[in-house]
Amino acid sequence: MNEDFCGRRSVLKATVALGLAQLLPAQDNSAASRPKEGDLLIKAGDASATPLTPADIRPGASQTMVFAMDPESKIIRNGSRLNRILLVRFEPDKLTSETRARAADGVVAYSALCSHAGCDVSDWLPDEQVLFCSCHASKFEPKDGAKVLDGPAPTALPALPLKLVDGKLTVAKTFTARITFEQG
Ligand code: FES
Repeated sequence: MNEDFCGRRSVLKATVALGLAQLLPAQDNSAASRPKEGDLLIKAGDASATPLTPADIRPGASQTMVFAMDPESKIIRNGSRLNRILLVRFEPDKLTSETRARAADGVVAYSALCSHAGCDVSDWLPDEQVLFCSCHASKFEPKDGAKVLDGPAPTALPALPLKLVDGKLTVAKTFTARITFEQG
C-alpha cells in the first residue's frame, strides 16, 4: 500500500470521526432543547412514542405527564428536567379567554416544574380541579394560565401553546416564559 493512499485513508477516518463527534452532541442537544413549534406530544415513558390526541386526555382528570417529540427525527425532548410538560383538559368554555386561545380542543399544556423549588407538579385536587405541588403545598389554576392560588410558588407555570395538526396535539409556540424556579 503506498504512503499517499495511507495518508488519504487517515484523513478520511479523521473526517468521519469528526463528523460523528459533531453529530452526537447535536442529537443530545435536540433532546435537551425546549419544545418547538410543530413538535408532537407523547406520554412520559411511552415506549411506543405514540403522538397524543385530545381523546387521550380525559376532561377534568388529573394531569398527564408528557414530553415533546421532534416529528421528523423522532427525538424525544426528555434530555432536560426543564422539558417536563403536563396536560389537562376541560370543556373550552371553562377556560379563560387567554387560556382558551392557547388550548387545543380544551387541552392545555404547562411546564410541570413548580416555580417555587422545582418539584414536579404531579398532584391533582379533584374537588377543586386544580394542580397541586405537594412539596410545599402550592396550588395552580390550570383554567386561568396556571396562576398561583395558594402556597409559596412565586409565579404561574409557563404555558405551552398548543394546536391540532391532523388531529394530533402539536406545539404551536414555545413556552410563554423561561422555565425557572427559586432554589429551595
Ligand atoms: S416546590 Fe412546589 S411548592 Fe415548593
